[in-house]
Amino acid sequence: MNKKPLILGIESSCDETAASLITENEQGFPIVLSNIISSQEEVHKEFGGVVPELAARSHMEKIDWVVKKAIDKSGKKIEEIDAVASTAGPGLIVCLSVGLSFGKTLAASLNKPFIAVNHLEGHALSPRLNSTLNYPYLFLLISGGHTQFLNVLGLGKYKRLGTTIDDALGEAFDKTAKLLGIEFPGGPQIEILAKRGDPNKYDLPKPILNKGGCNLSFAGLKTAVLKITKDIRTEQEKFDLAASFQRTIEEILYKKTKLAFIEFEKLNEQNKKIFVVAGGVAANKRVRSMLKNLCEEKNYESMFPPINLCGDNAAMIALVGLEKFKMKQFNNLDYPARPRWPLDNTAAFLKGAGVKL
Ligand code: KG4
Ligand code: ZN
Repeated sequence: MNKKPLILGIESSCDETAASLITENEQGFPIVLSNIISSQEEVHKEFGGVVPELAARSHMEKIDWVVKKAIDKSGKKIEEIDAVASTAGPGLIVCLSVGLSFGKTLAASLNKPFIAVNHLEGHALSPRLNSTLNYPYLFLLISGGHTQFLNVLGLGKYKRLGTTIDDALGEAFDKTAKLLGIEFPGGPQIEILAKRGDPNKYDLPKPILNKGGCNLSFAGLKTAVLKITKDIRTEQEKFDLAASFQRTIEEILYKKTKLAFIEFEKLNEQNKKIFVVAGGVAANKRVRSMLKNLCEEKNYESMFPPINLCGDNAAMIALVGLEKFKMKQFNNLDYPARPRWPLDNTAAFLKGAGVKL
């Protein structure tokens, strides 16, 4: 029996310091041996958003402990690690640098390969942590920093079909929550408040719903929510606004996903069509069930990572590391932090493209 690779993954691109050890079984199915996440919610709460300098400082304080805990929990010894994989981008440069330097230093001291991982590729592959998933598939990433539809053709092979031209979906949830007086990160709270409200009470805009293909836009929603919050007097009105926001998001995603299906089918001719959804907002149960229903309607197999692996974690980084290790895709120790690192580097930069669409 060959020794299976043991990979340490490290994540520090935003406000989670995380480390994970993974290996695989005889059939090549990944096994997560440990998955440690230290969140900085408490650090950023009073500022209503992530403060890069404080985030970086917190990563520096926690990284030794988090990595040590991941190794201890895995039941393996540090010398058994075959490669170290760190997120190199995209993200906040001061934050990325912490996990990247730590990973490079550890790899060098163990005399093992170092692997630079694209955080978005981690999300794209994350459903492989609990299911078999074959290429190609359509991928919707809905996180705090990104909102994109991608045709995933293989490891490192992506074609972007659509993207947000302004705010990311998680950002729209967090901004709405802030306007409703909910502490950062408020996204998950919107879903809870929405259950108690009337989803049809407020009519919110659905920017570029009928143009721009499967590109998306959420910035206009924030302005509309801001206007309404000025007149809100009761708790019930707050619930109604949360519910109306949640419904509007579902309607936008429903329409744009249908368009993305058409784009995907133009590019891929296989019978089995797979739709993968990941990123923090994929934890939203109503968004999940709406997209699942749409998949049934359109004959797609839907796949979501387990709720605890929708948000940022290092298991998904270690998983990309494992795949790259098997293909001997290693990186030099001078690999830079890449604050902007698109999965499809041929795709045009569309932020602020609203008027041109
Ligand atoms: O993927 P993630 O952990 O970090 C980034 O890479 O950005 O995503 C975090 C985002 C935050 O904006 C958070 O508010 C949002 O995902 N989020 C949710 C829910 N859970 C997390 N948004 C809506 N409903 C949820 N249940
Ligand atoms: Zn993320």
